[in-house]
Amino acid sequence: MNVLDVLHHDHLEVAKLLDKAAEETDHARLAKLFQSIRQNFEAHAHAEEALFYPQLQRIGSKAADAVAKAIAQHGEAIIILIEMAKLTPGEHQFASKLKAFTHAVQTHVKHEETVMFPLMREHFPQEAESMGPETKRQEKAFKAEGDGKDLR
Ligand SMILES: [Fe+2]
Ligand SMILES: [Fe+2]
Repeated sequence: MNVLDVLHHDHLEVAKLLDKAAEETDHARLAKLFQSIRQNFEAHAHAEEALFYPQLQRIGSKAADAVAKAIAQHGEAIIILIEMAKLTPGEHQFASKLKAFTHAVQTHVKHEETVMFPLMREHFPQEAESMGPETKRQEKAFKAEGDGKDLR
């Protein structure tokens, strides 16, 4: 299973959840969607930083900037999630932060898929093919760890 397929599938999944959240008017359902978005995003970012990014870093300077930018983007997005967790979905600020988060994720996904994915395909086609299952395993483990914990 190719790691780029796993990551792309995750990107689509989060985009779908964000679309749903943008439309959701019921506060309880929006709170649930938010938990799901946060869990998915954090597990995905964690797995990328554990496997995909370190592999790309082996390319050297050509990939270093792209990886540094991606890690900074993860950080920015996670800060918005932490701020959102302190709010209730009914609050006005929650909606504007959801928009900011959605925008941050879109920019980040574009960076990964147009800059980082091609680097991986070019330099490590074989590794990409075999890294998929471990990426999934890391995501699952991260989610299991978070289950039962109050993310606030
Ligand atoms: Fe990603
Ligand atoms: Fe990412």
